[in-house]
Amino acid sequence: MNLKDAYAPYFKVGAAISGRDMKTPKHLELVCREYNSFTCENEMKPMFLLDYDTISKDPAKYDTDPAVTLERVRKYLDFAKANGIQMRGHTLVWHNQTPRWFFHENYDEKAPTASKETMLARLEGYIKNVLTAIQSEYPGVIYAWDVVNEAVDEGGFRPRSPWQNIVGEEFIFKAFETARKYAEPGVLLFYNDYTTYEYWKRDFIVENILKPLIDRGLIDGMGMQSHLLMDDPSMEDYKIALETYGALGLVIHATELDIHNNDNSEASMQALADRYEQLFKIFLDAKTQGKANVGCITFWCLLDEESWLTGFRQETSYPLLFHGDCEPKKAYHSVVALAENYGK
Ligand code: GLA
Repeated sequence: MNLKDAYAPYFKVGAAISGRDMKTPKHLELVCREYNSFTCENEMKPMFLLDYDTISKDPAKYDTDPAVTLERVRKYLDFAKANGIQMRGHTLVWHNQTPRWFFHENYDEKAPTASKETMLARLEGYIKNVLTAIQSEYPGVIYAWDVVNEAVDEGGFRPRSPWQNIVGEEFIFKAFETARKYAEPGVLLFYNDYTTYEYWKRDFIVENILKPLIDRGLIDGMGMQSHLLMDDPSMEDYKIALETYGALGLVIHATELDIHNNDNSEASMQALADRYEQLFKIFLDAKTQGKANVGCITFWCLLDEESWLTGFRQETSYPLLFHGDCEPKKAYHSVVALAENYGK
C-alpha cells in the first residue's frame, strides 16, 4: 500500500514540491506513487506569476490589469497533467512573496503607495489573469485554490500587510468574489492560515472571514496549514478546531502539514510516528463521523532534507515521512497502517 491508496476511501493525500524535486526523477516517482494531489512550494505565488518584464515596459497599460506569466509554473502543470494528479493552487493573495513594487503607483517602488481603488482593481485583474491563463491551457488541473493566505495575526486582521493597510479587510471579500467569478465550475476556494487551532484565531477567522464568505456563497474550504510542533498544539485543540471549521459545512484541507522535530534518534522518530498517527486518526474519525468533511492532507515537502523548517527553526529538522533517498520513515508506516486497519 501507499499513502494515496490507503486513504482513498477517505481523502486525498498530497505534498508540496519544489524546483529541485522537478529535476529529480526519483522524487517525481515518489510523488506519482504516494500522492494524488500536490502544491507548488513556491512557484504559484505572486512573485513568480507576475510578469515584471512585460509590466515594466509599459506600466500604464498594465496599471489595473497586471500581466502574468506561466513560465516558472509550467513544468508543474505539465507534470500534473501528464500524470493525472490534480494540484492545489497556492496562493492568489498574500502579504508575503508578493513584490513590493506591486503596491506602488506605476509599479515603481520609489513612487507613492498605490490608492485603494487601484489596488482593488489590480487584485481583480491579477486573479482574473492567473485563473484565465492557467485554466485556458490546463483546464481541470487545479481543483482547489488558496484564495487568501494568512490575513489574520496579532489578535485581528494582520496589521503589517500592504493589502490590509491599503485596502482594509475588504480585500479578502474582493479576492473571493473575483476568484468565484473566474474559477472554473467546481474549483474549491479556500481561506488558508497558520496556527488555526489557537482559540482566538480560530474564532476570529470563523466570525470575521468564514461566516461572511459562506453567507455570500463565496467559499468552499478552510485550509489549516498545520505546521505543528511535537508538544504543541494538543491533539485535543487540533480536533476542536477541525470540528469547529467542519461544523460550518466547509471542506477542510490540512494544507502544509509538518511536525518540527530536531532529534533524529530512534525513540524520537517513533514519537513523531505516534504523533502523526494520532493526528491522522483525528482526520479519519472526523471524516467518518461526519464532523468535518476532510478533503485532502498535504505534507509540506517530500523529504526531511528539503524541509523549510531547518532554516526557519535554525536547527536541523526531521519533520516528515520520507528522508534520504526517498526512504520511508517509521511515521510513513504508521500513517499507512492506520488507514489500512481503520474500522477493521
Ligand atoms: C507559509 C506559506 C507557505 C510557505 C511556508 C513556509 O506557511 O503559506 O507557502 O511559504 O509559509 O515555507
